[in-house]
Amino acid sequence: MGKLNLTGDDMIRSFPYEGTDPHGMMLETFYMKATIDGHSGALVVKRNFGPAGVEEDAVLNNPSKHLGAVTVMFRREAGYDEDNKDWFWAKYLPDGSLDKNPKGMMLAGKVAKGTDKGCIACHTGAPGGDYLFTTDHVK
Ligand code: HEC
Repeated sequence: MGKLNLTGDDMIRSFPYEGTDPHGMMLETFYMKATIDGHSGALVVKRNFGPAGVEEDAVLNNPSKHLGAVTVMFRREAGYDEDNKDWFWAKYLPDGSLDKNPKGMMLAGKVAKGTDKGCIACHTGAPGGDYLFTTDHVK
């Protein structure tokens, strides 16, 4: 994601929009195709900024101060996770390390698959049955 300028000091920016729980109070979301380990698929990257009440200007002027997390969905090859449209899920902290849930599980992969909490459970409710809330147009 660094190579695509999605993270790091020279990252591409967009105008932040208001978000809610659980992601963040100000968000920047990017949709593209990417090739990772030889597989090309849809990549959706969301920057989650805070705290509550933070303004667009503050986020634009000082993103690193306000970044809370980077959440990622990547469409893997068919068969990776047939039950959930083959999405790979990940949540990174601002320092680039993977986040963990309270039980110490790394938030990467088929995160919390089969449980009633976490990325997959909540995104199951997204319109269009594609696990994406913001759009039905990413293939
Ligand atoms: C409690 C519900 C909930 C949980 C848990 C959740 N999300 Fe989301 N997510 C949302 C909602 C609602 C949106 C759309 C609004 C927004 O952008 O925040 C969203 C948006 C996104 C987007 C932008 C694409 C889209 O769906 O429109 C990504 C990427 C994303 N989430 C990744 C994750 C990852 C990775 C996890 C787990 C670490 C996760 N989410 C956990 C509710 C959730």
